[in-house]
Amino acid sequence: MKLLIRGGRIVDPAQDMDRVGDVLVDHGKIAAVGDVIEPAGDMQVIDAKGMVVTPGLIDMHVHLREPGQEHKETIETGTRAAAAGGFTAVCAMPNTEPVMDNYSVVHYVREKGRQAGYARVYPVGAITKGLQGKELTELADLISAGVVAVSDDGRPVSNAAVMRRALEYAKPFKLPIVSHAEDRDLSGDGVMHEGTVSTKLGLNGIPAAAENVAVARDILLAEATGGKLHLAHISTARAVELVRQAKQRGVPVTAEATPHHFTLTHEAVVGYDTSTKVNPPLRSQEDVEAVIAGLKDGTIDAIATDHAPHAEEEKDVEYDLAPFGLIGLETALPLVVTKLIEPGILSWKQAVSLMSTNPARILNLPGGTLKVGSPADITVINPELRQVVSRDKLVSKAKNTPFAGWSLQGWTEYTIVGGSIVYRRQRKED
Ligand code: DOR
Repeated sequence: MKLLIRGGRIVDPAQDMDRVGDVLVDHGKIAAVGDVIEPAGDMQVIDAKGMVVTPGLIDMHVHLREPGQEHKETIETGTRAAAAGGFTAVCAMPNTEPVMDNYSVVHYVREKGRQAGYARVYPVGAITKGLQGKELTELADLISAGVVAVSDDGRPVSNAAVMRRALEYAKPFKLPIVSHAEDRDLSGDGVMHEGTVSTKLGLNGIPAAAENVAVARDILLAEATGGKLHLAHISTARAVELVRQAKQRGVPVTAEATPHHFTLTHEAVVGYDTSTKVNPPLRSQEDVEAVIAGLKDGTIDAIATDHAPHAEEEKDVEYDLAPFGLIGLETALPLVVTKLIEPGILSWKQAVSLMSTNPARILNLPGGTLKVGSPADITVINPELRQVVSRDKLVSKAKNTPFAGWSLQGWTEYTIVGGSIVYRRQRKED
């Protein structure tokens, strides 16, 4: 079956394309893009007039919680949420139970993702066995099982010698090491950003230095080894500056930032809503501005959600006791449209680079473009549609979002994976 997406604004940075036109899909691949294509009898047609048509969005940083914590999220519910958010591919982090530190767990996650069929699931293996920070995993084994990167995300690799070996070992495979950059001695028992608000609320703080010193260390190790370093969820002004300087020196480093770190400050913690408890924590206004500047000038390569689902009863406790993490798959795109594109901070091309082209490039994934012959992973976005975020309407099993009640525009109309429609926005007439 052929699929024709007609009359949309096609934004594909990999082809330097931003124009109105048609996209034809045949046998799961892009068959034509750009010029007007006359519909034929054997084609399913999507009218994309007024829509933005982009290569499928790719989220480099998602916790799907399966195996082991299916009460928070499963591969099926998480990938359904991804599809609803416009993501055609997600990278699944390894802090599962058991940890994704061996062939069988990685294989299980990949297979489960394939069976669910809502989004491509690319597993990220662990750097160290059991995420213990001591003994490296068998990288060749993990790669043969299908990992696209390795990370101990959720925890830092505290021992610099272990991190150095990981970068060296991964280098010949050109496999990125994804760093959760945090000095745990400095973050201590902090539960939010250390600053004026933590003092006012009487909560223990996590200083910006806990991130900065770890980012500096990892950049120096990448520089020394030549291994590929990707910094997860950077959130401080100094971290952005360190990445900027490292790139100028030619260090093989890339970085991502989350929607919550460019839309919220530590002021959001006033009121003690535990869905604002996240690691790294929501920072100061100055940090938010630096992250936005980093997204705009290309210092930060990707927007990733760090979708971290938790059960309601786990979050419904005192702020100090709640687990870190918030969900992001279904709000990321409208936050980018409303907070970055609409105010003119980013162009559509820049936003698509951050959410599709660059993640594909960093992880060497097949998608990220609508070039003829590419897999037909496509997101069709209604840039004008405005809706209020409602916890009840979320597809994710978890509801820990700090964005409930926000009025946002720019929601997904269709998500297409390998030529199949995996998500279509419900209309009144449906
Ligand atoms: O807030 C967070 N939650 N940060 C992390 O690094 C891990 C994540 C989780 O797994 O819940």
